[in-house]
Amino acid sequence: MPTETVYGLAADATNPSAVARIYAVKGRPADHPLIVHFSDPKLINSWAAEVPDYAMDLAKAFWPGPMTLVLRRTDLAGDFITGGQDTVAVRVPGHPVALKLLSEFEQLGGLGVAAPSANRFGKVSPTNSSAVQAELGDYLDAEDMILEGGDSEVGIESTIIDCTSESPKLLRLGAITAEMITQATGLSVSRAPSTIRVSGSLASHYAPNAKVVLDQVVLPGEGLIALESEPTPDSVIRLIAPVDVQGYAQQLYFALRQADALGLRRVVAITPKGDGLAEAIRDRLQRASY
Ligand code: TXA
Ligand code: MG
Repeated sequence: MPTETVYGLAADATNPSAVARIYAVKGRPADHPLIVHFSDPKLINSWAAEVPDYAMDLAKAFWPGPMTLVLRRTDLAGDFITGGQDTVAVRVPGHPVALKLLSEFEQLGGLGVAAPSANRFGKVSPTNSSAVQAELGDYLDAEDMILEGGDSEVGIESTIIDCTSESPKLLRLGAITAEMITQATGLSVSRAPSTIRVSGSLASHYAPNAKVVLDQVVLPGEGLIALESEPTPDSVIRLIAPVDVQGYAQQLYFALRQADALGLRRVVAITPKGDGLAEAIRDRLQRASY
């Protein structure tokens, strides 16, 4: 299913065999927890046993949107969703097709849809339907569907916030920034490395086949990812030239895929300066460059 961040590989989050297929299609280790998606924010209480006030504030401020909350789980959140942890990750995505799918599922009695990014484990998240087809086409069956939702608007995965202690902790950077979280909750945000497992925080992740290097000199025949203000030297393959950091985030994974489609061996990315979304972009580029 499309979402505003990246496309997700969706299955009924209460159905162990449906979720087992997610792991099989992704080729992901079974102890990596999944995000549960729903359209009705009230369903948070079906999945989460404890929702602190500040988590409610975040839900009100940023759902539907590119933010995932990690909360103490209820019994509904099985080990096959949480990887055996006592927490569950939940999100209301801000994409009309996703919201329609989820609300129709909820009208049929569904409670949530588990959806990791629709890429093979460790690879680049897809941000349009043809990227999903390229990633997973070989692993899907005839009855599986890829829902068309256009290009993902945000382009990088949701911000993940651990809401299991007194104040919010950032587990994965994204479009909802620390500053926005503080503004919505009145609390400061910590980034202490959490003991909770986040597969997106494995050092090597989001990696294309091309070698990605950061802020180095780009040579003829190599790919270049940079803001528009950066000129393209002769014989360099310009992959994207976004005008701002929003555009950079939106086009980044497309650029990494394009590098592989063109068979490039080396890609130079000029990292954007600043905090907030720029920091999230640098985080993804660092992982892609391992
Ligand atoms: O933007 C997104 O979040 C996309 C779209 C499809 O919603 N989904 C996504 O899912 O990025 P995935 O599985 O690729 O990444 C989810 C991350 C993983 O790193 C996982 O470890 C973490 O969320 N996660 C899931 N449940 C967790 C939990 N209970 N505690 C800590 N981290 C959790
Ligand atoms: Mg992923």
